Amino acid sequence: MALLRIDKMTHYFGGLRAVSDYNLVLEPGHIVGLIGPNGAGKTTIFNLITGIHTPTEGNVELEGHNLIGHHPHEIAGKGLGRTFQNLLLWRHMDVLEHVKMACYSQLEYGLLGAFFGTGRCHREEKRITAKAMHLLETFNVAEYSDQLVSSLPYGAQRRVEMARAMAINPKVLLLDEPTAGMTPDELNRMISIIRQVHKDFEVAILLIEHRLKFVMELCEKIQTLVFGEVIAEGTPEEIQSNPEVIEAYLGKEDVT
Ligand SMILES: Nc1ncnc2c1ncn2[C@@H]1O[C@H](COP(=O)(O)OP(=O)(O)OP(=O)(O)O)[C@@H](O)[C@H]1O
Ligand SMILES: [Mg+2]
Repeated sequence: MALLRIDKMTHYFGGLRAVSDYNLVLEPGHIVGLIGPNGAGKTTIFNLITGIHTPTEGNVELEGHNLIGHHPHEIAGKGLGRTFQNLLLWRHMDVLEHVKMACYSQLEYGLLGAFFGTGRCHREEKRITAKAMHLLETFNVAEYSDQLVSSLPYGAQRRVEMARAMAINPKVLLLDEPTAGMTPDELNRMISIIRQVHKDFEVAILLIEHRLKFVMELCEKIQTLVFGEVIAEGTPEEIQSNPEVIEAYLGKEDVT
């Protein structure tokens, strides 16, 4: 069974058909890339999967369970982690707290335990702090653990957002332009971090990117979206040499 399965998903914003008959089969452990020009509907697809918008038509299933109509926090709880194109961080919280906040959604003690400070509650707190620190180390931001998120360099903020997305133990991670605004050095570092995370956490990844090097190095399959429609789907080599993709996207953008 596919981990994430999307069938004929369509979405209208008023009269605008932003996503048209979109299909995806994401198998456990796979990395799929989603590329396409600005306004093609890529972020909208993430917003439809994660419950921010409800598709006008179509089905979205995670491990065979329907996600349509569920709230974003319920969908996250079922195993879908995501990052946002425009960083969505609590800017005045320190880095460690940030990731711990996301870990709390996985807590195993109740409100009474927290109130009375039971032994179990203390053990859970310790476990959560250790888990959050491990994630910060994985994403190479442990050195900033006690600093405010807003004081970090941009690339580091992006990595904190990813650490937070991984704190809910997702089965699928949706990354919306994870290298936006990064230098070539940061981009190479991000490629190796994602490889490591993919291997260590056995998470499947759906990745939106404009930086072609990044997509080509990481993804086994790539979809090209233009005006809400997938015009081509295939391996990096197939996509790079597809005349329609070159015409509609690769030939026109600065996608190095
Ligand atoms: N909440 C909304 N209400 C109305 N229209 C929207 C909304 N969100 C997106 N759109 C429109 O839907 C289309 C797809 O937008 P979307 O943000 O999904 O594109 P994208 O492929 O992520 O582009 P980019 O590469 O610039 O991030 C665009 O025409 C956009 O203006
Ligand atoms: Mg977008």
